[in-house]
Amino acid sequence: MIERNSFFSNLTSGYLFPEINKRRRAFASENPDAGLISLGIGNTTEPLTPHIVDALAAQVARLGTKDGYSGYGDEAGLSTLRDKIAEVLYENRISPDEVFVSDGAKCDIGRIQYLFGSRVSVAVQDPAYPVYVDGSVMIGAASAMISGTTNYAGITYMPCTRENSFFPDTALIPENSLVYFCSPNNPTGAVATREQLTVLVKTAREKGSIIIFDSAYAAFIRDPSLPRSIFEIDGARECAIEVGSFSKPVGFTGVRLGWTIVPKELAFADGTPVIQDWNRLFSTIFNGASNIAQAGGLASLEPAGLVETRETIDYYLENARIIRDALQGPNFGRMGVEVYGGDNAPYVWVRFPGKKSWDIFDAILEKCHVVCTPGAGFGPAGESYIRFSSFGHRDDILEAAQRLSRLEL
Ligand code: MLT
Repeated sequence: MIERNSFFSNLTSGYLFPEINKRRRAFASENPDAGLISLGIGNTTEPLTPHIVDALAAQVARLGTKDGYSGYGDEAGLSTLRDKIAEVLYENRISPDEVFVSDGAKCDIGRIQYLFGSRVSVAVQDPAYPVYVDGSVMIGAASAMISGTTNYAGITYMPCTRENSFFPDTALIPENSLVYFCSPNNPTGAVATREQLTVLVKTAREKGSIIIFDSAYAAFIRDPSLPRSIFEIDGARECAIEVGSFSKPVGFTGVRLGWTIVPKELAFADGTPVIQDWNRLFSTIFNGASNIAQAGGLASLEPAGLVETRETIDYYLENARIIRDALQGPNFGRMGVEVYGGDNAPYVWVRFPGKKSWDIFDAILEKCHVVCTPGAGFGPAGESYIRFSSFGHRDDILEAAQRLSRLEL
């Protein structure tokens, strides 16, 4: 028989969100009338908006005609969409041929891990979106695990805590490593300032490291002084790749559409441009994003689409405000609870001093019938925290806020 890929046995547990779902389903089956509200996984809930729906429908109709039908397209995406991403989202700081349209940020992160292979060392913010660590472990980039901990020897965890305002000590970045950095951050909701990203870029360049900048939540930034892209920072073109997504701003979590920017200046140690290998990889194991999804993505970047998208994001940000307010009542003050994020990000990050994340998760599930995400699931520094997602219907958010405001632990 074929032996199991040993890297998979290095994974410490199942993927976080299915584990949460399992507990949610178990609770729901024992308590069918509980009226469970999920503020766990960041899954969009609001309908697609009219301008985008029209574009999707028109593309479907075109595919049903002799002249409008198209099969495989350019693996890197429609040139009109690549142009639009460069112009609207990056103010032409990057060029359209550096844009690779894909089926989503998560899939691109997996492909990036394949690009760099198993010998690269990896640094992550701690806590972090689990795909950075789990994907690195699967590819073998973190093959040795420090016994008795959740840490892997090949992965450097850079704590992001309230003490450092959720920005890591960049001195921890190893030489020649891949550095995953997410801003607005999932899960902490913190957004790195221009000064902080300048330090990050400077350190990465000094250390010969490459930043994988996850900007999946950039559209949630409302403060104009905060950078939405690593490419707003001088020097980033020589040391960064950026991954973006239509999922959360446009509601394409199910439709699937994202992109990756690989600047032409970015090179491997032997001088090979990274874009050359990325192009090779992309065209070999990916056949391009759905042409229907791309039509929707294009529409979302047109003036009418931008207005609609902003309204959708405003809706989720208002949800985040409602959740934050609910967590600031006197009972939370007595428990010493601290609330972070949720202003330029869809996630609210909450610290319960002295408590374990999974215990808080269980207590909120049992007492409030609300599902959240335990911070420890995002890394060791997430212990004592939980994350609330603001993706939900307003009625559910208001109801959850009511229930949470009465919580005593
Ligand atoms: C999350 O809840 O962290 C994300 O929505 C999951 C994802 O985007 O894959």
